[in-house]
Amino acid sequence: MSKPKVLVACKTFSDIVDRLRPHFDVETNDTDQPWPQDELIRRLQGKAGVYISGSSKVDTTLLEACPDLRAVCTMAVGYNNIDVPACTARGVLVSNAPDVLTETTADFGFALMMATARRITESEHFLRRGEWKHWSVTMFAGADVHGATLGVLGMGRIGAAIARRGHLGFGMPVIYHNRSRLPADQEAPLGAQWVEKDELLQRADHLVIVVPYSPSAHHLIGERELAMMKPTATLTNIARGGVVDDAALAHALQAGTIAAAGLDVFEGEPVVHPALLECTNVVLTPHIASATVATRRAMSNLAVDNLIAVLTGGTPPTALNPEVLVK
Ligand code: GLV
Repeated sequence: MSKPKVLVACKTFSDIVDRLRPHFDVETNDTDQPWPQDELIRRLQGKAGVYISGSSKVDTTLLEACPDLRAVCTMAVGYNNIDVPACTARGVLVSNAPDVLTETTADFGFALMMATARRITESEHFLRRGEWKHWSVTMFAGADVHGATLGVLGMGRIGAAIARRGHLGFGMPVIYHNRSRLPADQEAPLGAQWVEKDELLQRADHLVIVVPYSPSAHHLIGERELAMMKPTATLTNIARGGVVDDAALAHALQAGTIAAAGLDVFEGEPVVHPALLECTNVVLTPHIASATVATRRAMSNLAVDNLIAVLTGGTPPTALNPEVLVK
């Protein structure tokens, strides 16, 4: 009997792809660039499963064009690129890759927030341009992180890991906003206090955004919200492009409405709003919060574990719609 066919739609570690080969006929994308949607659909013909990253879109058009598809396994934790209800309606199992990236992503969020507050990339660019002629008392004077109020918007696993770093490592009072408040026994070790969103914006010295993207989170931070923040405050976004209105943010950075921003995600990435590129008081990174070798390997292995389980009759470890497996 021939093996089921699967597609690995983004380039990943070859030894991890090799784990699929005993079970499946495997086609891979070795180009390190996402395929255009029509090519993805063409390559998915006859495939039972697909391994994707956050760069591939799985929508109703794709699902209707690929009736053999039974499993969509993303190596990302975020899955706003996948129409999960449409997959469920067609009996397609979807999995993501939570937990394995939590601490790595929190490290990065904290580093980006610190780089933003302490103007690290801005001062490095100044030095590289040969503009450093003498030491000065106020040269690149930024904002303290230790002891400052940390505001966390979105208190999921990554938000909690950032709060823990701020509370235990930097003596920061931690305030947060989330749709649901954490139970008191989970708030206590983080030193975290739930507040309304407006109060979070008004009180935070360093705001870190970690909410998953959904249509209701679109432009959660826009002109109105930025205007509520302190002029000395920083904003760090490691969530998803679209949660912050990038045009409004660029304007706020230019106008001094807030002091600085750190951004790892962008609306319409990999294209970055040109006004942000013009701002000196913003640290920009290309969506790398989970990018350590160990964590990217763990994310890839988890996606492969899910793909193998779904298509060999096992239980996928991190299914988003396990109800499709119930006969
Ligand atoms: C990265 O953004 C992810 O969702 O894993």
